[in-house]
Amino acid sequence: MKKNARKIAKYKAEGRKIAALTAYDYPSAKFIDEAGIDIILVGDSAANVVLGYESTTKITIDEMLIFTAAVSRGAKNALITADMPFLTYNISFEKALENAGKFIQAGADAVKIEGGSDYIIELTKKLTDSGIPVMAHLGFTPQYVNTIGGNLIQGKNFETTLKILEAAKKLEAAGAFSIVLEMVPKESAAFITKNLAMPTIGIGAGAACDGQILVLNDLIGKFDDFSPKFARKYFDSKAIIIDAASRYIEDVRMGSFPNNEESFQLSDEERCKLENYTQTK
Ligand code: KIV
Repeated sequence: MKKNARKIAKYKAEGRKIAALTAYDYPSAKFIDEAGIDIILVGDSAANVVLGYESTTKITIDEMLIFTAAVSRGAKNALITADMPFLTYNISFEKALENAGKFIQAGADAVKIEGGSDYIIELTKKLTDSGIPVMAHLGFTPQYVNTIGGNLIQGKNFETTLKILEAAKKLEAAGAFSIVLEMVPKESAAFITKNLAMPTIGIGAGAACDGQILVLNDLIGKFDDFSPKFARKYFDSKAIIIDAASRYIEDVRMGSFPNNEESFQLSDEERCKLENYTQTK
């Protein structure tokens, strides 16, 4: 059955952990939906793991809309959340609402926006009031990497943890249905989780979060430029793709691909005509 933001938000009170993964294409979305995933995030991590950009700040809204539409065609049950890319929601409320609307029209059920500034809190309210569920994102927020000064763990002491909690509470009051906590020490994430009514979805934030999210390409070993400490590889796609491609290359070079079963064939009568024609030449 199709999941919605309200249902996901209730999982916390029911004590049901939320399993989320990213996906960017139709077949992956279809398969992880079949596996029973709760949330599919069309993450701007697509910038790195699909498009080969060095930073998530490089991906455009048009690229993200194509991925979102493909995922929505594949997933019938999971809540589809689209990551709004860099500067598509920070320039003005009007532009942000217009861009968020594009993601909903492309098939997303919700959007994710990073940060906890007054502007983001106000925007969360405006989006929610407009009928667009919002997933918040605090801790390390990759779109702010240049102002943060690198991929740095956030909430490393009491004061900074409290700051994250305060911003999260405001986002919750503004209507966010859940919040991603990225690269936060597990004790800090547990404290934030305990003090929020909305579910926390952790990535590099320990097991006490109400749910977990991973980048699918890390999970299946389909990206090896870098591997974050918090990622768990369940499958080695790289090895499997290299093995399959190597065997295919060998078969092509040896002439053993394609075989008869993999080829279309003429009827005996038509084949004879060709052979006779060749013989008369
Ligand atoms: O873009 C993404 O994949 C994300 C997750 C890491 C939460 O934002």
